[in-house]
Amino acid sequence: MPAAAPTLAVWAGPKTAEYVALFRTAAPDIHAVAADDITDPSGIEWLAGWRLPLGYFARFPQLNVFFGLGAGVDAVLMRDDLAPHVQVVKLADAGMAPQMAEFALMGVLHWQRRMSEYSQQQAACEWKPLRPRLRADVRVSVLGLGAIGGEVARTLADFGYRVSGWSRSQKSIAGVRCMQGADALRSLLTDTNVLVNMLPSTPETRGLINHEVLAALPVSAYVVNGSRGDQLDVEALLKLLDSGHLSGALLDVFATEPLPADSPLWRHANIRITPHVAAATLPAEAVTQIVANIRRVARGEKALGAVQRQRGY
Ligand code: NAP
Ligand code: GLV
Repeated sequence: MPAAAPTLAVWAGPKTAEYVALFRTAAPDIHAVAADDITDPSGIEWLAGWRLPLGYFARFPQLNVFFGLGAGVDAVLMRDDLAPHVQVVKLADAGMAPQMAEFALMGVLHWQRRMSEYSQQQAACEWKPLRPRLRADVRVSVLGLGAIGGEVARTLADFGYRVSGWSRSQKSIAGVRCMQGADALRSLLTDTNVLVNMLPSTPETRGLINHEVLAALPVSAYVVNGSRGDQLDVEALLKLLDSGHLSGALLDVFATEPLPADSPLWRHANIRITPHVAAATLPAEAVTQIVANIRRVARGEKALGAVQRQRGY
């Protein structure tokens, strides 16, 4: 690290002070400062943050690299205050993947152990054992096999499920049938009991899980969305749940967050909702990864998790 390391500005809302302290402990040679405290932001080249106020990027005309404190960069890439030349860097797993794997597993177990049906039976005080489903017969399809989705697929395969995965480029994950392309997606859907969405939200994937995609799933299939709400057509989901084509959904993310109180999703008997908590950023792990990336960038190397802005992730 050169003697005069540039300042790292940090903006993380109420967590800013916590992050600044973590950066200072992890890398005393990097001058981490709360972005709001910087009186002359004109020379700032590095900024770390999450959900920055609108217009905030415009304060930093020399910004070179933005280190996101999350895995998704959709909201950042949609902003018009972020100059096109700024390198955006996302977190790559950084402790989120195991949490997301637990979340997906919870959805798969819900379907496997027929919890939607038993909840309905409970509401009617009905005691009626249903036919058991064995792990080896449960077909799970994971859309998106990146830093988090790949670990989700691996974990579910290790648990004994029949796992398929879908991505843009060819992947090889032990125990997972990896597929690519639109034709593969169609055949994957017809062979799925539980669909797990782990795609980033991009111009190509927004609205991708529409009526046609959901209707292609076999009767009684279940949907887990841990990625972004704008990828799932909730009207279509509700229609197919109400017709009995789909059996349920576990949703962590929504097109509008917080989910408005008048959304019918809240009150649907076969939908389980969590408030965007499937995989939280772990500050210490995030800081460790960003510090390592700052050192890479300072050496003129590419950061791990560097985003290709034209493809949207
Ligand atoms: P990532 O490393 O960027 O991986 C994205 C994966 O999606 C890659 O496998 C990529 O294929 C694939 N993909 C992208 N566009 C595609 C397309 N059009 N068709 C097919 N495959 C496509 O992302 P990640 O770290 O796994 O995270 C995924 C998402 O999880 C984030 O973007 C974020 O929205 C969400 N997330 C949610 C929470 C939460 O708490 N709910 C927490 C963290 C993350 P290639 O590998 O071929 O490029
Ligand atoms: C959370 O949703 C993230 O993208 O990290």
